Amino acid sequence: MRRYVSNLCSVKSVIVVGNNSLDTLSEIEGEVSVIHSSRIDPEPVIKRLRRASSIIAIDDGEKAKDISVVLDIVRKIHTGSSPDLEWIVALGGGTIMDVAGFAASIYKRGIKLINIPTTLLAMVDAAMGGKNGVNMDGVKNMLGTFYQPALVISDISFLKSLSRDDLANGMAEVIKYCITLDKELCGLLEARYRDIYNKDPEVFEEIIFRSAVNKMRIVEADERDNMGIRIVLNYGHTIGHAIEASSNFKISHGKAVSIGMVCEATLAEELGVAGKGVTRYLEELLSLYNLPRSSRELGVEIDLDTAVKALKMDKKRRRGKILMPLPKEIGAWERVELDIEILERLLKKCLE
Ligand SMILES: NC(=O)c1ccc[n+]([C@@H]2O[C@H](COP(=O)([O-])OP(=O)(O)OC[C@H]3O[C@@H](n4cnc5c(N)ncnc54)[C@H](O)[C@@H]3O)[C@@H](O)[C@H]2O)c1
Repeated sequence: MRRYVSNLCSVKSVIVVGNNSLDTLSEIEGEVSVIHSSRIDPEPVIKRLRRASSIIAIDDGEKAKDISVVLDIVRKIHTGSSPDLEWIVALGGGTIMDVAGFAASIYKRGIKLINIPTTLLAMVDAAMGGKNGVNMDGVKNMLGTFYQPALVISDISFLKSLSRDDLANGMAEVIKYCITLDKELCGLLEARYRDIYNKDPEVFEEIIFRSAVNKMRIVEADERDNMGIRIVLNYGHTIGHAIEASSNFKISHGKAVSIGMVCEATLAEELGVAGKGVTRYLEELLSLYNLPRSSRELGVEIDLDTAVKALKMDKKRRRGKILMPLPKEIGAWERVELDIEILERLLKKCLE
């Protein structure tokens, strides 16, 4: 089991990764409410807690990312727990991390949060860093808060039941870190893809821990995303979010980000930001993990007008421009400010 302690401005955030890391829960004192995906049995969590009160099951997936779900959670916590409630545990994939994190951040102006991610995507990304968001009017993460979890427990045993498809979705975010921040990680992903595909626990622990450290070093440098550093975690997401919206969220986050990364890398090469060959390398890595490189591979109907509308509504937009992270070479990135019209043309070209 590995442990990383991140000393953030708002809280000390501890991340534990490995088999049996759920046992860390026995250290928690005080009353705990558990919000879990209806697909995940909360019993292994509850039995390790000294005092569990409201246990709330919610349906996960992108439809769960609605403000009504957040308010429903808050009401259930309010009626089902005692005034002594100290902690909220969020148990599930990235969508549960988002809604439960949001609820934890607003109830009594903040209840201490423990994230227990159960998908690879949530272990390498959504469970850490303190951003949460729900969708509004078809636009991704339009409402949200910053609220850091005090503890993140990535117990690899949850991944045994994960589908191949959801494994690939998580790998899209791991590839995001390697392309922008960590060349050595790219080498590991090339060399060990068979072991990753076979869910080898030792290699899972390595890539999850390494992804967590990559993410938290960026968050430590720019916790509130206002210094132009944290945007690197958004690589592939500007185009990716528009693609998710264009399919009415039928295309998963990981697959949309995968196509978004290729599209944005192509632009980086065209602008001369990235050296030749970066996009090709990225595409080869994505195909090793059965991730799509273009929307033609998806077999899902895409509405171009909806994609363009979502892009124009991007929450990072300021004065008609979006600040974007683009890859420079493998493991290095650069920030570039782009007119929304350039991105609209790029999106149309990528969705042709
Ligand atoms: N807040 C952040 O920083 C951040 C970062 C990245 C992604 N996200 C968000 O995360 C979401 C995607 O996360 P996700 O891919 O985990 O989605 P998800 O929560 O919808 O989970 C994907 C699927 O896996 C299933 N599942 C969960 N745990 C399982 C397990 N152990 N075994 C088998 N099946 C399991 C779920 O029921 C669901 O069908 C998106 O909404 C994205 O915007 C947030």
